[in-house]
Amino acid sequence: MKFIHLSDTHLLGAPSEKLYGLKPAKRLKKAFKNIQAHHANADFIAITGDLSNNAESQAYAQLKKYIDGLDIPVFLLVGNHDHRKRLWKYFPEFRDGDFVQYVREFDDRVFLFLDTLVEGEEYGELCDTRMAWLEKQLKQYADRKVYLLMHHHPIHSGLQRMDTVGNFRSAKAFWKLLSRYDSVQHIFFGHVHRPMQAIHRSISLSSTRSTTFQVAYRPDEQTEHLTNTVQPAYSVVNFDGENTVIHLCEYLGEYGVSRVEG
Ligand SMILES: [Fe+2]
Ligand SMILES: [Fe+2]
Repeated sequence: MKFIHLSDTHLLGAPSEKLYGLKPAKRLKKAFKNIQAHHANADFIAITGDLSNNAESQAYAQLKKYIDGLDIPVFLLVGNHDHRKRLWKYFPEFRDGDFVQYVREFDDRVFLFLDTLVEGEEYGELCDTRMAWLEKQLKQYADRKVYLLMHHHPIHSGLQRMDTVGNFRSAKAFWKLLSRYDSVQHIFFGHVHRPMQAIHRSISLSSTRSTTFQVAYRPDEQTEHLTNTVQPAYSVVNFDGENTVIHLCEYLGEYGVSRVEG
């Protein structure tokens, strides 16, 4: 099986609107078109939050329209730029009580979609209710291969803003809980607008680029550096027997790649 990890679409109220000189809607539509052309056999697409930039209802309405045009199931998460109730108006299937959290099973693998949003804040957390939900799932699926998907990064990223005002504030309790289970194989996250790979206590983690703007790596500077000279991308996550292989796919241009002759 395989799935597409896509993140931080940052859709605006109208498709023609620009964010840092870029059109988020146009870029997302190109990503979907590219996925349909080259990865139509993907089992699902997961978008790990910051679906909208300003939490406008119109952004979620647009997203609904684009997703309805796809043959591949799409699973959504909220990020710090999102608003749960406005999302649920168009996607009620992703509601569990007060949160956007749910489980999806494919073959022998179990995917847990976590809600790290604290509405109105840049940082994220898992409150007691959400932590209890995660514990319940980990208990229930203790004998399976479990994969977590979340918006905020549960590790120190080395990116100043992401590790201060935009950090994940439940990391200590989160890792303590995970240390009691050996079922968790990998954690996919968004938020950082960069492709990162990490290992924490033998659990691997990865993020992917935004479909809109990217964050530059400037570890010694206090301010966040955004860049739009780097192409947007999504990741293809391939599960093949004992292997999990993740490819970053840039998709702008007609086919996203140029053929080299000779
Ligand atoms: Fe974002
Ligand atoms: Fe974010």
